[in-house]
Order: sequence, then structure tokens, then C-alpha cells
Amino acid sequence: MSSPLLEIRDLTVAFGRRPPAVRGVSWTLDAGARLGLIGESGSGKTVTALAIMGLLPETARVTGSIRLGGRELVGLRDADMARLRGDLVSMIFQEPMTALDPTMRAGRQVAEAFRLHRGAAAGPARTAVLAMLAAVGFEDAQRVADSYPHQLSGGQRQRVMTAMALINSPDLVLCDEPTTALDVTVQATVLDVLDAVLDAEGAACVFISHDLAVVSQICSDVAVMLDGEIVERGDAARVLTAPQHPYTAGLVATARLDLLEPGTRLSTVADHASGIPVRPRRRRGAR
Ligand SMILES: Nc1ncnc2c1ncn2[C@@H]1O[C@H](COP(=O)(O)OP(=O)(O)OP(=O)(O)O)[C@@H](O)[C@H]1O
Ligand SMILES: [Mg+2]
Repeated sequence: MSSPLLEIRDLTVAFGRRPPAVRGVSWTLDAGARLGLIGESGSGKTVTALAIMGLLPETARVTGSIRLGGRELVGLRDADMARLRGDLVSMIFQEPMTALDPTMRAGRQVAEAFRLHRGAAAGPARTAVLAMLAAVGFEDAQRVADSYPHQLSGGQRQRVMTAMALINSPDLVLCDEPTTALDVTVQATVLDVLDAVLDAEGAACVFISHDLAVVSQICSDVAVMLDGEIVERGDAARVLTAPQHPYTAGLVATARLDLLEPGTRLSTVADHASGIPVRPRRRRGAR
């Protein structure tokens, strides 16, 4: 049996004297699988993603193991980690303006991400960038490439960041609330684009969100974090319709989800279910 793409063992991340933000968690993700990471604010979701990306501040004390594609990431030198970022793993943040350089045209930023790893000349890089911008749904890729971030809408910037994250065909993409800042219709477009490019690239994904309907659309599996620990993990449809941990049950009840099967409602919310339309994803090989 092949080993998982991502293997986290006993990961603990602590800041100062406070209780650890992530406490001895262990989980794995298979190639191409999509894991939704949910849980209340401050439960350690972003810290987990930043630990995988090697982007935690120096003040963070990290112990345990994060193996990605067979390589140990904990304790890796910055220069070595920088090389793996983009190639092996990339991240899409909630606010694209923090990831995009306001002084640089969008196309050049995507091209630099590409050239950094591929060493490609300007011409082939430009071709790859335009193809990637088309893949994230821009019909006018040329115009978008020549625009500065402030000339693009929030949804367009988020799609540019998606293009940057995927241009090097990483094995794993970490998405930290990628659509939370967008309005609902734009969110739907960006999610459809993300869904399609992850599929096309065969990339695995860790998708952090508070929106359980979105998680059930994008993810095959769900893990629930509470106070730095994973309290429940399983098939997305199962966790979101028949949660086993009381905390998950509370989350699901709050979300008033009416999942998957029309007419199948959680008894706890049967009287209130809002009937958010949710498209079930086909199963993938997540564990
Ligand atoms: N740089 C830091 N220095 C000190 N503490 C931090 C730092 N980054 C995160 N923390 C703490 O770690 C804990 C987990 O934070 P994290 O950002 O992972 O939460 P989260 O689950 O992503 O929450 P949210 O849903 O609000 O984004 C919090 O208590 C937070 O205050
Ligand atoms: Mg967060």
C-alpha cells in the first residue's frame, strides 16, 4: 500500500507560556484527497496550515512530525522549505491583498511564481500564465494579466491567487477560508473554479472554512478541531449528517444543514432546517 501524501504525527505548536495552539494532533491525507478542517475560532486551524507551509513565526515552538511526499518538514531550513513551497505545497489565503503585491501586474506575479520554480524564460512563462488564468475562469486572461491588483475585484483577485497557488502543479493546496471575504454569488464562482482546477491538477487539498455547506461541496472528508485537537474525523457526508462528537453536533445544528438527501434532516434541526442546497461530492480516497 502506498503511503499517504501528508502524514502528521503528534504535532504540537506552542506560543509563549500559553497552552499549545495545536496539541499533539495526528492525521493523514492521501494524494488527491480533500479534507475540510472546521472548528471554532482559535481552535488551531490556521496554525496547522501555517505549520505545514513552514510559515509560522519564529516564536512558535513546533514538535512532532509533518511528512509531505516522504519529506520531513519540521525542522527544515527556510531555504529548503521555500523550495518546496509552490512545487509541493501552496496556500490560498482569505485576503488576496495580503498575498498579492499591489505594485506588480497580476500576470507578472503569477509568472514569477512559475519562473522561480521552473526557471522558465519570459515567453514560455507568459504562455503558462495565460493558460492558468484561463483555467481559473478568465475569458480575458490578457487583460487580467496586465492589471494591477487594485484594478481587479475581490473575486478576481482571489482567482489570481488561485492561479498563483496552482501554476506549479503542487501536490497539496492549503485553502484558509478562501471565499469568506466574498459575497455569495462571487463565492460560488470562485469555489467552482477552485473545484475544477484542483480536479484538473489532481491536487490534494486542506480546506479551512466555517461554512459547512461549502465544506460539503468541496471536501470528501472532514476533520473537526477543538482547542488544538482533532475531535472527529471522517467522511464529509457522515460527519455532517451523523456527527459523533457533541461539539460537531453543535456545529452542525448551528449551521442548520439539510444535507445530501432531500428530506433527510437532522432531528435536532428538523424544525429549523433552512434547506441550504448542498451538492454532494463524489468520494475520494481520504482517510
Ligand atoms: N503568532 C501567534 N502568536 C501567538 N499566538 C498565536 C499566534 N498565531 C496564532 N496564535 C494562537 O493560536 C490559537 C489558534 O489560532 P488559529 O489562528 O490557528 O485559529 P483558527 O482556528 O484559524 O481560528 P479562526 O477560525 O478565527 O481563523 C489562538 O489562540 C491564537 O491566538
Ligand atoms: Mg484561521
